Amino acid sequence: MKRIRICNESEIPGPGMKCYDTEGGVKVLVANSGEAFHAYQGLCPHQDVCLDEGFFDGSTLTCHQHLWQWDIQTGAALGLAEAPLERFEIERIGGEIFVLQSSALRACELFREVSAETVSRLDEVSRREEHSAGTALYDIGDPADDLYILESGRVEFEIGRDDRTRMAGFMLRKGEMFGWAALLQDHPRRIARATCIEPSTLLRLRGETVLSMLSQQTADGFIVMRQLSTLITRHLRTQGGK
Ligand code: FES
Repeated sequence: MKRIRICNESEIPGPGMKCYDTEGGVKVLVANSGEAFHAYQGLCPHQDVCLDEGFFDGSTLTCHQHLWQWDIQTGAALGLAEAPLERFEIERIGGEIFVLQSSALRACELFREVSAETVSRLDEVSRREEHSAGTALYDIGDPADDLYILESGRVEFEIGRDDRTRMAGFMLRKGEMFGWAALLQDHPRRIARATCIEPSTLLRLRGETVLSMLSQQTADGFIVMRQLSTLITRHLRTQGGK
């Protein structure tokens, strides 16, 4: 866990909230209900909107854009909202507010149910990379060697061939994984182009290293493969694959 200083408590009188950009590029929303401080992801999980532009009455947070709402105590979705907020653990030291940031691996759907030991071994072999806006991570036809997990920022995808490409959406939430072809046999080339469209931090894992590790941890290997097949099916249904 990494501890990151966010602000001084006096900057947010209750009830109130404010978004902060952290050094690692993560946007964090700090809300003061009047009785306690809470910290969540700064961007709405629906679209790319800062949550401090919305409304907060001390117990319910509302995004002004399409009125998704969340319980400030837990981050649970209320009413129209279709996804909860990512919650950060807070530490208050001498009037300063810090958040404790866990590995994006833990938030990744693929690894969510595997043992803590396997997550920590994966963490050891992953590489954290920071990229500026406009960086091309891979292109159509490149070898599919690595998979990526988004820690912060935004990555956009295009699929197709030659000049017949089309947008295939983007990824925004911490823990979202892409480049999963690196975990497949007989699928060594990219079928999409991935580009950072804002400063982004990523965890990068060598596909063959992950496969070799999972072949020795067969229970966790089974969980990952089951999750992977679910993810692929979902992507094929909605976006034509990444
Ligand atoms: S952008 Fe927040 S609810 Fe749609």
